[in-house]
Amino acid sequence: MVGTAYIEWVYNFYACVYDVVFERFFAEGRRSAVAAIGARPGERILEVGVGTGACIPLFPPGVHFTGIDLSQGMLDEAHEKAAKEGWKNVHLMKMDATKLDFPDDSFDAVLAAYFITTVPDPRAVVQEMKRVCRRGGRLVFVNHFMAPNTFINDLERACAPVLWRVGWRSDLKLDSFLTMTNLRPEKVEFVDRIGLWRTLYCVNHKDAAGPEEVKPKRTFIPQALRTWGKRLATVRIRKRERV
Ligand SMILES: C[S@@+](CC[C@H](N)C(=O)[O-])C[C@H]1O[C@@H](n2cnc3c(N)ncnc32)[C@H](O)[C@@H]1O
Repeated sequence: MVGTAYIEWVYNFYACVYDVVFERFFAEGRRSAVAAIGARPGERILEVGVGTGACIPLFPPGVHFTGIDLSQGMLDEAHEKAAKEGWKNVHLMKMDATKLDFPDDSFDAVLAAYFITTVPDPRAVVQEMKRVCRRGGRLVFVNHFMAPNTFINDLERACAPVLWRVGWRSDLKLDSFLTMTNLRPEKVEFVDRIGLWRTLYCVNHKDAAGPEEVKPKRTFIPQALRTWGKRLATVRIRKRERV
């Protein structure tokens, strides 16, 4: 399991190329998440893991936007865009999402876009999101959760140790995420056809966290291949038995 300092280093390293690679790639999910928030002028919005600020232009004018991120490199990119495009009412701060430096109930809605699988402790982040969002406010997530397809699941599990090294995990299941955070989404929508990314819309009931995450067993590619080898062998044996 990688730590926060490592993730900070990784995103500082990516900062100058992040938009080239990920701005368009994740555009549909960001649109869907910002639409789900339904922000109105005058509302106080927080984005945790704001990165280079790719979601900011999607909000309507007049919202009071605060974005926090661990990586100064990513924030510098966001500051540059804010100056170039003249974003108003936008505050960007360096902060760890597991220890938010805001009083309780500071925001009407909190967004986590492509973020929750970049943190070693998603449960702690969501507790902080609930704390700083007012009761009845909105908590919106857009993220990768393990696919409902077993073949893709095996790949996701197999790639997890390597993907952690490059800044995110691929083995978070939606039901484990909901159990550990005690979130009950009002709406869950796929943002792609394969079912890799989903938008979750939740109302903040200020519920306590659920039980700590049971870490999924890390598997390496040979293990995933072994599983598939076993499945193929079973199919062959069954065929032979039929003959
Ligand atoms: C994949 S990027 C997503 C950025 C942006 N939300 C987007 O839609 O493009 C994840 C961001 O989360 C930040 N991050 C990771 N762990 C964090 C933490 N504990 N606290 C605050 N930010 C963190 C990273 O620095 C990175 O900028």
